[in-house]
Amino acid sequence: MKILVTGGTGYIGSHTVVELQKKGYEVVIADNLSNSTADVVDNIARITGIKPAFEKVDLSDPEPCRDLFNRHPGLASVIHFAAFKAVGESVLEPLKYYHNNLGSLMNLLREIETHGIRNLVFSSSCTVYGQPDELPVTESAPIKKAASPYGNTKQIAEEIINDIVAVTELRAIMLRYFNPIGAHESALIGELPLGIPNNLVPFLTQTAIGKRDFLRVWGNDYNTHDGTAIRDYIHVVDIALAHVIAIERLQEGKNKTKAEAFNLGTGIGYSVLDVIKSFERSTKVKVAYKIMDRRPGDVEKVWADTELANHELGWKAGRDLDDMTLSAWNWEKKLAGL
Ligand code: WQD
Repeated sequence: MKILVTGGTGYIGSHTVVELQKKGYEVVIADNLSNSTADVVDNIARITGIKPAFEKVDLSDPEPCRDLFNRHPGLASVIHFAAFKAVGESVLEPLKYYHNNLGSLMNLLREIETHGIRNLVFSSSCTVYGQPDELPVTESAPIKKAASPYGNTKQIAEEIINDIVAVTELRAIMLRYFNPIGAHESALIGELPLGIPNNLVPFLTQTAIGKRDFLRVWGNDYNTHDGTAIRDYIHVVDIALAHVIAIERLQEGKNKTKAEAFNLGTGIGYSVLDVIKSFERSTKVKVAYKIMDRRPGDVEKVWADTELANHELGWKAGRDLDDMTLSAWNWEKKLAGL
């Protein structure tokens, strides 16, 4: 079976391509390389022994999107990762986010319909919940006003998909990631932050390797066990494995409704200081950090209720925080040629 993976040279996309190829799927990657590099394709091939087809394409442009599908007839399914995802940047450049994230999705959905493709897995996010009223947060928690244009593009995308599946043959699964971190055990693929990382773990590992002077911990006056904010960190390979299960659920017609949503988390919340402690424990490397003021837009604490994904998908995160921080460190060392 041939599967199109948009954003397949990106962080979660590349790890998912590896797991799809290991399950015997033929993969076509479509990516505009705005936040990744083409050598990820070669590194995927070094892991699996199979080089996926790669198409450099801007899906937000309808013509190239149509050409892509015409060049690849017979696609069974699509996994859609391609989107801009920097929360802070989206606040400063909202139109860039709405145009790219929603324009790409709508072009894709048009081609999916034209070519009679019935299975779509969509990369969604826990940001659709905002600061949940109750924790752990379940899939039936109210979708709150998004804290950023990025989060809003994910909310709107889910609504668009719900409306499309209601009147076409398409079935969809939306996977709401919590905080993906870590890297493949080979250290050949990982999170490739271009520029100064927004996210905690790449900034932490770059500090540990000496690329940054110290890690800024955004706030220690939250109502948590140590004052720093809590997130549900999950290994990127556990996230990737869930995508294979989700696409097979659709291909085998096991979905219960035409559009399903699942939380992808571990169900355990860790604070920023917990992550630092885990990194120092798993790598034996110290990290210099300073407590700063809170970062605007951050929620205080969020972690997932994973019961639905565990029960319905038969999927459960298998890697713990120390596995995550150690794999992130091995990737950072590889990037530095160590
Ligand atoms: C985590 C914690 C920061 C950097 C991410 C993605 C978002 C979505 C959800 C997919 C927070 C703190 C961070 C730093 C710090 N995922 N922090 N110093 O904001 O939860 O959002 O996951 O859709 O797209 O961005 O992740 O890693 O930025 O922050 O103290 O230098 O670490 O305040 O408490 P976040 P993050």
